[in-house]
Amino acid sequence: MGLVDTGLSLAFAISVGGAIAIAFLVDHDSGWYAYHMLFGLCAGFLLVVHVILGIVGTRHVNFEAMGHGLSKLPGYLFGIFKRQEKPCPGHNPLAWFVYVVMFSILTLLVLSGVFMLNHSIEEIHEILGWVLLGTVAAHLIGILIHGLRFRENVALSMFSGRKRATQEVALRRSRPVLGLMLLLISLSFMVQLFQNYERGASAVRLPWLGISVQLGEDESYKYESGCEKEDYHEMDRDAHNHDHPMHH
Ligand code: HEM
Repeated sequence: MGLVDTGLSLAFAISVGGAIAIAFLVDHDSGWYAYHMLFGLCAGFLLVVHVILGIVGTRHVNFEAMGHGLSKLPGYLFGIFKRQEKPCPGHNPLAWFVYVVMFSILTLLVLSGVFMLNHSIEEIHEILGWVLLGTVAAHLIGILIHGLRFRENVALSMFSGRKRATQEVALRRSRPVLGLMLLLISLSFMVQLFQNYERGASAVRLPWLGISVQLGEDESYKYESGCEKEDYHEMDRDAHNHDHPMHH
């Protein structure tokens, strides 16, 4: 599944990387911020694709392998300290753990982004963004340490889907047609999502589902207290200047 793995990994990296980069680098009030949400929605779709892969994927990447990997985590961690751990054909137990943590954080990020109904959810979304950044950094350090110890480029295997393995664990069939279909569906969703973005309405219609998502936090909760909109904008600006050093 070389092409498929590379394509899906790249699409995921671009979606999550794009969402994070725009979140931290682009002014929230600029029109470009909508692309944060579009990339975030693409990441959400790719999460669903990965759940499908977990069900129909090969025996090194499906949910069964995940359960098996996670059950070996304590022993594996112990082995690291005793310098006894061996390279695995699929993900190693620690990689599975990182995988589950990252996917859970991403799921919560997408849900809190889409349903940003009040200030608490907005705060949770922001904190999760930082946690994700920390997890990505820890992941990169782990890959570096693994590479130095085993002289194996695991970062490359994430993109190529290939790993060095013994004959008995090697895959005979890698389901290329199914993989290619998932890749094409994913790319088609991403392209259509960007095409469906209506700049004027600050909204996007989700491809195939027809559901419209408002891009931007739901500001209405801020006006429920009965304040005039104008007054609130003053308060909001002050609050932002205190709370968000990045908004200057
Ligand atoms: C990969 C998924 C996502 C990541 C990693 C992510 C990350 C972040 C981060 C780190 C921030 C805070 C930026 C700051 O400190 O100022 C943020 C803000 C925001 N995100 Fe996301 N996000 C994701 C998905 C989404 C989605 C799917 C939506 C909505 C459809 C969304 C809507 C928003 C909004 C409206 C804000 C601005 C909140 C404010 O004004 O403080 N995000 N996001």
